[in-house]
Amino acid sequence: MPTHDTRKVAVLAGIGAWLPPRVVDNDELSRRLDTSDEWIRTRTGIGERHVVDPGMSTVDMAVEAGARALRSAGSAEIDAVVLATATPDQVCPASAPQVASGLGLGSVAAFDVNAVCSGFVYALATAAGLIAADVARGVLLIGADAFTTLLDPADRSTVPIFGDGAGAVVLHAGEAGQDGAVGPFDLHSDGELSELLIVPAGGSRMKRSTNPADHCFSMRGPAVFRHATARMAESSRAVLDRAGWTIADVDRFIGHQANIRILQATAKQLGLPADSLVVNIERTGNTSAASIPLAMADAAADGTLQQGDRVLLSAFGAGLTWGSTVLRWPDVIPG
Ligand code: COA
Repeated sequence: MPTHDTRKVAVLAGIGAWLPPRVVDNDELSRRLDTSDEWIRTRTGIGERHVVDPGMSTVDMAVEAGARALRSAGSAEIDAVVLATATPDQVCPASAPQVASGLGLGSVAAFDVNAVCSGFVYALATAAGLIAADVARGVLLIGADAFTTLLDPADRSTVPIFGDGAGAVVLHAGEAGQDGAVGPFDLHSDGELSELLIVPAGGSRMKRSTNPADHCFSMRGPAVFRHATARMAESSRAVLDRAGWTIADVDRFIGHQANIRILQATAKQLGLPADSLVVNIERTGNTSAASIPLAMADAAADGTLQQGDRVLLSAFGAGLTWGSTVLRWPDVIPG
């Protein structure tokens, strides 16, 4: 008897994004830190970033982005909310249930995924798994981080790099091969290198530290740069292989927006033309789990992404974690 694959795949059906209104440009940072617009632009490609005001949280941003993605998807049936974040409103509980309530979604399944800057790709794989296992037919997936709340405001090695924001997608159960179908995936980690990007205190190993710096994010920039480029290139090749695509098949490369030089170096290693790169870091900075959906929403809004485009997504972040996936861009308008 002939057999065929009847597994459902996750299909992107809506997208939305939200940035906090307060914009901090490089000149403003240069007035309070020993840095300059020239240094930040040349080393990172960042011109400005959006920053939460005191009292505004990850949940607030996630609700805004989630509402826009639901609007973009039209009449979406949602059974689960997956929130990719490393900056939940509280250490306990997870923030996704508050996001689901804030959106009036009732008693749907809701949980957080923490893979820091790789969070969106990890959570996309998680959401695709929920759909493939028939646990959910519709998933609202949000990447949201208030990363600036983790920074020491006097640390010029981290403050210029990060910004806050949220991006969201709605995923429906659909068929492999249709526009919007997401996958396969390639996901990895290396906990031996967790100290390259870390907030040492506040968790179960060291709840409180007398050194305030232990409660802030620290980063070994040059080492992270090398790992990010090598791992995103490796993972991109692996996922293309799994998908049966070649480099020449890729119309758009949407990498985690950490540093424009990391994106350019990764594209170069892969042999991708520079004009396939989707880049919005100039006005967002590194927004951690929000960066890929924010870049997708911007590119969909300005026509850079067209229906049918073959898109490669790749991310790298603290953990270390990294991963990639592919999709064919669907006919969606950001909400
Ligand atoms: N303004 C001015 N000078 C600065 C500065 C700033 N904001 N931050 C560092 N510097 C100085 C350093 O002190 C150093 O000075 P020295 O040569 O006198 O010692 C010099 O600039 C070069 O520092 P270095 O860290 O080697 O620069 P770099 O070219 O590696 O760029 C990063 C630094 C952080 C931009 C870069 O390493 C990077 O982007 N790494 C990856 C970070 C990342 O993406 N993290 C998130 C991953 S998800």
